[in-house]
Amino acid sequence: MCGIVGYIGKQQAAPIVVAGLESLEYRGYDSAGIAEISDSSAFITKQAGRVSGLKDSVAKNTHTSHVAIGHTRWATHGSPTTANAHPHSNTDQTIMVVHNGIIENFQAIKTKLQAEGYTFVSQTDTEVIPHLIDYYYRASNDLTLAFRQALQDLQGAYGIAVVSTHEPNKILVARLSSPLVVGVGKGEYFLASDPSAVMDYTKEVIFLNDFDVATITADGCVVHNLKQEKSSKPVAELLDYDSQQASLGDFPHFMLKEIFEAPATIRSASLGRVKAAENIVKLGGLESVIAQLKYIDRIVIVACGTSYYAGLVGEYLLEEIAGIAVEVQLASEFKYRNEPFSRSTALLAISQSGETADTIAALKKVEDYGVLRIGIVNATGSTIARMTDAGVYCHAGPEQAVASTKAFIAQVTVLAQIALSLGSPSNKLFKPLLQELEDLPAKAQQVLDTAPSIKKIAEKYAHHRDFLFIGRGYSFPSALEGALKLKEVSYIHAEGYAAGEMKHGPLAMIDEHFPTFALATDSVLLDKTYSNIEEIKARKGPVVAVATVGNKAIAKLCDDVIYIPATLAQTQPLLEAIATQLFAYYIAVAKDLNVDRPRNLAKSVTVE
Ligand code: G6P
Repeated sequence: MCGIVGYIGKQQAAPIVVAGLESLEYRGYDSAGIAEISDSSAFITKQAGRVSGLKDSVAKNTHTSHVAIGHTRWATHGSPTTANAHPHSNTDQTIMVVHNGIIENFQAIKTKLQAEGYTFVSQTDTEVIPHLIDYYYRASNDLTLAFRQALQDLQGAYGIAVVSTHEPNKILVARLSSPLVVGVGKGEYFLASDPSAVMDYTKEVIFLNDFDVATITADGCVVHNLKQEKSSKPVAELLDYDSQQASLGDFPHFMLKEIFEAPATIRSASLGRVKAAENIVKLGGLESVIAQLKYIDRIVIVACGTSYYAGLVGEYLLEEIAGIAVEVQLASEFKYRNEPFSRSTALLAISQSGETADTIAALKKVEDYGVLRIGIVNATGSTIARMTDAGVYCHAGPEQAVASTKAFIAQVTVLAQIALSLGSPSNKLFKPLLQELEDLPAKAQQVLDTAPSIKKIAEKYAHHRDFLFIGRGYSFPSALEGALKLKEVSYIHAEGYAAGEMKHGPLAMIDEHFPTFALATDSVLLDKTYSNIEEIKARKGPVVAVATVGNKAIAKLCDDVIYIPATLAQTQPLLEAIATQLFAYYIAVAKDLNVDRPRNLAKSVTVE
């Protein structure tokens, strides 16, 4: 979604800001812009379309500037036009603003400002901000005060950066429910909505908290918290980030690169945590809450998208291995639901980015309930990682493709570890599951080795308009996630169903034009899945199956089979996911689609 980058220091600001915007491109956007301050003059360059276009336009500028803010916009209010692109400014272009999030009461503010004579040139909610700051500035001639007064009027969620010709040597920023970090350099500061945008320049970052307003000059950063009404000199944290991981290498797309990182992902999520020989699983991130965890008899998992489906696998794992009742809820539903909640319930938020607005809102909802809030997060230092009481990092490294692949693998791996750590070593599944987690990277590699045959199968089905994904038990969440992956990247209508539900509706859709992808790996439920496949075949429906190596019978029943190595039922979703991810990827490639950045989608959904 929208991205913010800023720079203040001794270097030419625009190339740094544009490079930062390029590194945020993967999040999804439709227009981009930059505002530079040079000798008390403002230069705004913005346009619909790619950052590369903006880069060409900025390269034509001849002025020098050491202060700039930039933005990539993902349209919410108003279409993706140049007029709606950020930065937005007041009428005389003395105050420039970039904004992530939503100003919910923008219409009321706009009406008030229009009555005062202000005119608007865009359809955005953001445009009220520079005018509102202007309104207050006219009364006080104090930019910081005017900014704070404006913030008091805004309702919604925001990360905001402001530059102004009135006070040309500073950037003002504010954060409420939308991420912003300040990168600390030597005599220079960087600003970004995602730390990855500043990591090439500095690994030292200041994380801003809700209601923080920061004043950044080349010499320092002072933070004032509007709620606590106090100012502080913030302490920077050192981020562990490998920028190599964020580059494409020899792969044609990030999605393929990230799918191929599955073995390394499982290894890195298990490193130092899983010790099969000693029969222990050790999760340092949960140690501080171990006493509280003993009193937990129910876990509510909240998440969105792929993380939600990882949560569904977690439900099966936690119930079976740890014996704890689990409910998985879409964060967007959870936050508006009125349900009884006792302190023996813990909330477990799963998020790759750690910045998903609905998941953050779900955690906020229970803030005053006194319940334990745990996180499974990939992005270190992200909002969810910082707002939870305890948590386990996925350590999957940066994920760039919009469609989540390796993060799902890491999330399920971590969920298995949490289930083991909350369960009893006397559980008959304890030792085998622990051992399997160690053996899985090699098995994941075996699935990847079959990529050429998955590609052939995918190409055969790429012309279809619809697809059904079915599975039972642990393979049911795999079916849901498989369908999501396919629709995200190939735009094929795909539905995930519990195989046992076929007769309750989906079977009506089946004919020779409606293929089914059946997750039919070895399990106690396999015979039942066979029956469902038979029912589909009886209605001439084409079937692609994922089955366990050695299952020859299924090849006679289905049109195409993708074989994966034998594994426990509990770890099948990990290997099945690799197969469904590759299937979706190769269909999208066959259709010549923008695999890494599917239309209308964003990597990190930071607004409701
Ligand atoms: C977006 C992404 C998905 C992701 C979902 C949840 O929709 O495109 O890939 O699964 O958000 O994101 P999170 O970062 O919270 O896991």
